[in-house]
Amino acid sequence: MHVLALVTQKGGSGKSTLAVGLAVAAMRDGERVALIEADQQGTISKWQERRDNPYPRVERVAEPADIEAIIARLAAEGVWLAIIDTAATNNVLAMRAIALADLCVIPARPSPADIEAAIPTLLAIRRQKRRFAFVLNQTPPRGARLSEAATSLNALGVLALPFIGQRNDHQDALGAGFGVSEYARGGKAADEIHALWSWIAKKLGEEALAHGQAAIRRAS
Ligand SMILES: Nc1ncnc2c1ncn2[C@@H]1O[C@H](COP(=O)(O)OP(=O)(O)OP(=O)(O)O)[C@@H](O)[C@H]1O
Ligand SMILES: [Mg+2]
Repeated sequence: MHVLALVTQKGGSGKSTLAVGLAVAAMRDGERVALIEADQQGTISKWQERRDNPYPRVERVAEPADIEAIIARLAAEGVWLAIIDTAATNNVLAMRAIALADLCVIPARPSPADIEAAIPTLLAIRRQKRRFAFVLNQTPPRGARLSEAATSLNALGVLALPFIGQRNDHQDALGAGFGVSEYARGGKAADEIHALWSWIAKKLGEEALAHGQAAIRRAS
């Protein structure tokens, strides 16, 4: 099973919105997907209450020690992808999510404040030697601020593509209990989320391949 963690101590950068959007986009590919809510704020479980479809399933976790057991149980049940949504703080729960993630996704709006605030999270990810990618979220159509932000994030590490634009569909989908790709099928927001999921899936595939090759080397 692959584990993604949406992390950054900066509040409101889009962790929950992207967690939901990516989970539903991944389901379209027939993947068995689960969301793990590691944020007492409850954005994901409130979203699920507004939703008719029981999938993706949502697991709530409050104790850092419990995340590992939940991941093991989901894997045993055949879940292929678990996406952990964390709180806007580098608390123990977020650190545990980072430690267990195959890929940490760090959303940042194209503002110096978001990028600066992501640095402590980035340092924690590096300390734990986890893979990561930034996602520029809530971006304007174009402009110098956007390219400056992209340059800063590229200098700090990998920047996922595409950028996720500032679009009402994300807010409306969250409010209506849908993933954005269900809510506004064929819209720009849906297209961007599908493309971001493809980018991430490719990264996860490379990781799985690397693990597989390491296992073959160990066995031979
Ligand atoms: N690409 C986007 N376009 C438009 N609105 C967005 C986009 N991404 C997020 N939002 C909105 O921005 C607000 C904050 O997003 P979200 O709750 O996902 O952030 P968060 O990082 O999970 O916040 P917190 O740190 O409080 O958990 C929400 O109202 C959400 O609907
Ligand atoms: Mg959130």
